[in-house]
Amino acid sequence: MPVAYFDGPGGTQVPQSVVNAMVDYLVHHNANTHWQYPTSQETDRLIAAARAALADFLGADPTEVVFGANMTTLTFHLARALGRGWGAGDEIVITELDHHANVAPWRALERERGVTIRVVPFLPHTGQLDWTALDRMLSTRTRLLAIGAASNALGTVNDVGRACALARAAGASSFVDAVHYAPHAHVDVRAIGCDFLACSPYKFYGPHLGVLYGRRERLEALDAPKLAPAPETAPERLETGTLNHEGIVGAGAAVDFLASLAPGGARRDGLARSLAALHHRGQALLERLWEGLGQIDGVALYGPPPGRPRTPTVAFTVGARTSDQVAKALAEDGLFVSSGDFYATTVVERLGLSAHGLVRAGCACYTTTDEVDRLVAAVTKLVD
Ligand SMILES: Cc1ncc(COP(=O)(O)O)c(C=O)c1O
Repeated sequence: MPVAYFDGPGGTQVPQSVVNAMVDYLVHHNANTHWQYPTSQETDRLIAAARAALADFLGADPTEVVFGANMTTLTFHLARALGRGWGAGDEIVITELDHHANVAPWRALERERGVTIRVVPFLPHTGQLDWTALDRMLSTRTRLLAIGAASNALGTVNDVGRACALARAAGASSFVDAVHYAPHAHVDVRAIGCDFLACSPYKFYGPHLGVLYGRRERLEALDAPKLAPAPETAPERLETGTLNHEGIVGAGAAVDFLASLAPGGARRDGLARSLAALHHRGQALLERLWEGLGQIDGVALYGPPPGRPRTPTVAFTVGARTSDQVAKALAEDGLFVSSGDFYATTVVERLGLSAHGLVRAGCACYTTTDEVDRLVAAVTKLVD
């Protein structure tokens, strides 16, 4: 039975070109950086090339691209660096809609630095943020707004350009979690106007890795924990220890894979066209999935309906079954979906679903209408 992978929001499948780039690196170029022999110099060159690819992906300069283990680790690192300048009376605004990787690093500063955390609620019936509350919570005391570009549980897309402009007007910095957004839409850090943004290549056809963007002058000024002999210049000053070189090379290849979906012209333009096409394709799959599931008795759908700003990620429950029970049954039909709270724990709590969790089906670039129909048929069979 062929497998249909609906687990993209947890991590996508990887194309052969990405695998080949990683194997080539390990077999032919594997070394540590900055030494005087060929494989070390090749490693320097390959990391620089991957940095340039990720810079194109984000609309940034290569000096603004930091590599790390994953988004969570990079965000804890950034929070610690930023927090060294903050204390009692300073405030950080976070949201209920966010994955806890964009919650816990800021909450840690509550304990370690005495800052105050303000939490923007989300509206369970629409799956959207309470923008009035967000606006109200920003003040001259706000040091940072930390907001997700898209909810990994409900698919809700937030207007982060608007949020970062509100933060800027209040004199605050902004951090955007683009982990769930980046596989589905073109990221442009300059258009968003954020100070920092993080994403994870393993969600967009690359290997397990994290990437942090920081505005050049911000990266240069951060009081980040580092080893004295390590480089003082950005972006390396934010990168601790020896990195995952093969992962970095693979992340660059993932960007090239995405750009190759709309060949011709500069890579940055190709990426814009590819992601626009993926968005369009994803929305058609989303509509089919949403409508199909919506017609099944006992299925409840969560988050914004098609037509609203959202990713092609559908969260649902099936009667009184737990999300794990549903996911297990679907796996027997070769349909791989995620279940639980996906670390968007507050979203699931606020929906009153902590005990059972959500089933999550995400459409990726390889998802077909046949697979969507198979999923709808399998959920129908489960209910019958
Ligand atoms: C929206 C969102 N933010 C953050 C993360 C954490 O990313 P990482 O696994 O790279 O730490 C995830 C992972 O699922 C996510 O979906």
